[in-house]
Amino acid sequence: MALRLRKLSYALGAEVCDIDVAWPMGERQFGEIYKAFLDHGILLFRNQDVTREQHIEFSRRFGELDRHEALPRDRHPQYPELLMVTNEPKSDGSPSDTQYTGRQWHSDMSFTTAPSLGSLLKSYAVPEVGGDTLFANMTLAHDALSEGMKKLIANLHGIHLSGTRKLANDNTGIERMAEQKRINPPVAQPVARVHPETGRKALYIGEKVKRFDGMTEDESRPLIDTLVRHATRPEFVYRHQWKKNDILAWDNRCVMHQALGDFDETQLRHMERTTVLGAPSGYVVGGG
Ligand code: SIN
Repeated sequence: MALRLRKLSYALGAEVCDIDVAWPMGERQFGEIYKAFLDHGILLFRNQDVTREQHIEFSRRFGELDRHEALPRDRHPQYPELLMVTNEPKSDGSPSDTQYTGRQWHSDMSFTTAPSLGSLLKSYAVPEVGGDTLFANMTLAHDALSEGMKKLIANLHGIHLSGTRKLANDNTGIERMAEQKRINPPVAQPVARVHPETGRKALYIGEKVKRFDGMTEDESRPLIDTLVRHATRPEFVYRHQWKKNDILAWDNRCVMHQALGDFDETQLRHMERTTVLGAPSGYVVGGG
């Protein structure tokens, strides 16, 4: 039976209707899903009340999974293939290390030399309202640049840092951030990357980019800000309003995203993410 798709927005995304990702799926059906993933950048699967094993199993169809060695504190204690994004306090009552994960525009694992192909995020608990995630189509954003700007960025490399912007007025996540910085030296990635499967160029930039290789922070900042502002214009963006048991799969090679803090933080928001490894890209930069 042909896949039933419903577009999520003008810019990107499609919902895959009438599907249970835990059901054994033949090569042909998964092939259709993967084609839709490449065509739309984001796929939404609603009502997926699946186990962690089933989430992992389905994710493996997209490729080899990251065991999140770069983010050791954020892993699920029993399942290294699952990265936690939760505001649930730890068992000793202290704040969660991952409550502010993803609050900047970014592409997953861009600060490593194996940046992610794609991610599959499952929602376990969502606040009554808000807790949305924004996604930007970086292929459209690249295509819409002037020819002059395309030329200017064609050979630039942005230096990506790990870590989350500090958002709380307490010490939440400070040790974790220091650990992440220790494990992950700064990595330079092309600002315009060719998608290895579609052959299309996409902007590869975001708020984890500190400067361009060979340039100072002061010199780089105006152009970084211009490109991020350009890529996040409403016509390139989809805003996902989560329901419990959504699985959202996105292509990190041509989509960047940002989790919003638009909700009552006393309410639980608990998500778990698998991360599919991508092809090697970029190089380590001494000194940042
Ligand atoms: C992430 O950046 O992977 C998390 C996104 C979210 O929690 O909405």
